Order: sequence, then structure tokens, then C-alpha cells
Amino acid sequence: MGKVQKGKLIVLEGIDGSGKSTQARLLADRMREEGIPFYVTMEPTDSPIGSMIRQVLTGRMQADPRVIAALFVADRLDHLLNEVNGIVGMAEKGTCVIMDRYYFSSYAYQSVDVPLDWLIQANTLSSGILRPAVNLFIDVSPDVAMERIEQNRFAKELFEERDRLAQVRGNYLEAFDRLQSTERVAVIDGNRSVEAVAQDIWDTVKGYLRQPAGGTAIGLQTKKE
Ligand code: ADP
Ligand code: TYD
Repeated sequence: MGKVQKGKLIVLEGIDGSGKSTQARLLADRMREEGIPFYVTMEPTDSPIGSMIRQVLTGRMQADPRVIAALFVADRLDHLLNEVNGIVGMAEKGTCVIMDRYYFSSYAYQSVDVPLDWLIQANTLSSGILRPAVNLFIDVSPDVAMERIEQNRFAKELFEERDRLAQVRGNYLEAFDRLQSTERVAVIDGNRSVEAVAQDIWDTVKGYLRQPAGGTAIGLQTKKE
């Protein structure tokens, strides 16, 4: 079965506080202005599996890191395949999907406790179904991220400590390096103003939206990494 070129998946990645949700909103505004049909979504999702994950992240529920890793895998597959609002259905209709986190988040965060090889393997189901047209990595220093988190949040989640964020940033870079032959990654300097980052993101995304081929591939078969 050949892969079908339809709505593109644009993924925002970065450590906590890097500005992903701010930029997802601004990218959506830009697409609205340009008349591009889009859908904005995030992981963990608000499905029952996503709710379990949030309970673990906020400390209301305890789970082994391997269980958390598997929950993220399951949440992601439901995000793609859910019959009501699954991303595959949206993309097949030609809607451009803006996603706040996808499988690189698992590679960066869960590889603190679980081998990266296992994580990549476990996510081949997702990457085989829907690979991003581009993974936008909003790169901020852990100090800048911590400052933003401390200024703006009442309660911190499991991963929101400086050393942890530094480790996660390093894991992102390692995963990008590992998968450079299969994944498109654009590194965006996120230490700048919201407006400068948004402009950089739009300039990058525009190029991928125009690309006639080699963008998001959709197919329900698995594909080797
Ligand atoms: P994330 O979704 O990656 O955790 P957010 O978009 O929620 O990040 O941003 C975290 C906080 O930092 C928010 O309060 C947001 O207003 C602020 N923020 C986002 N981008 C910038 C930026 N470029 N400069 C300064 N503050 C920012
Ligand atoms: P999110 O709500 O995006 O947090 P933030 O806005 O602070 O970036 O994600 C919640 C947490 O879930 C975040 O600390 C990263 C973590 N996470 C993983 O550990 N693995 C994953 O696969 C995903 C999608 C998120």
C-alpha cells in the first residue's frame, strides 16, 4: 500500500516552559489568517489514558517509570486512531494538525528511566502511521525555562526541576541525532521574544506546507525506523 499525502502534522517539542503552547496558539492564528484548515491538539491528551498520566505527573497516583512510558505509548495511539477525534481521521480529510508534543517527548523524558531503544521501538506503531512533516524543537536553556515556570505556575509537575530539564534537553538532542535519517527536525532558538520565535516558526512551517511530496506520510502499516 502506498502512502497517501494529505494534511500535514506539525509538532512542537521542547522542555517544559519552552513556549510550546504559546507558539501552538500563534501558529494556529497564522494558519487561520492564511485560510489553512487546522486542528490544534496536545499530548498527554484529555482521554481516560491521558487523565491517568496527569494523575501520575501531579503525584496523585504512583506508577513505575516503565508503566508511565507504556501509558504514553497507549495515549498516543488512541490520539491517532480514536474514531471520534483521531488525528489520522483529521489528516486524511486534509486538515493540518498542530501538535504540542509527540513521540520525541517520550524519547526525551522517558529515556531518563527507560532505554531509548525500547522507546523508539514501542513508538514505531505511531511513527509508521503518522510521521510529522516537521518536528519543531523550541530550544531554551533550562534556566530560562525554570524562570518562566516559576513565574507562571502555581504547582509544578514531576519533571519541572532544573537538573531534570537539562537532562531532558540533552536527551532530545541525542534522539534527534539518532533519528536524523528518518525525521525532519528544525531547531528554533526559543530564548528570544514570543514574536521573534513565532516568526521563525512560521518561516519554517511555510516551507513544509508548500512541499508537494515527502511531507507527512499516512498509512496504517508499520515502518522500520
Ligand atoms: P510550554 O507549553 O512549553 O510549557 P508555555 O507556552 O506554557 O510553555 O510558556 C511558559 C510560560 O512562559 C508562559 O507563562 C508563557 O507566557 C511564557 N513564555 C512563552 N514564550 C515566551 C517567550 N518567548 N519569552 C518570555 N516568556 C514566554
Ligand atoms: P505538557 O502538558 O506539555 O507540559 P508543559 O506545558 O509543561 O510542557 O506535558 C506534561 C508533561 O508530560 C511534561 O512534563 C512532559 C511530559 N511528557 C512525557 O514525559 N512523555 C511524553 O511522551 C509526553 C507527550 C509528555
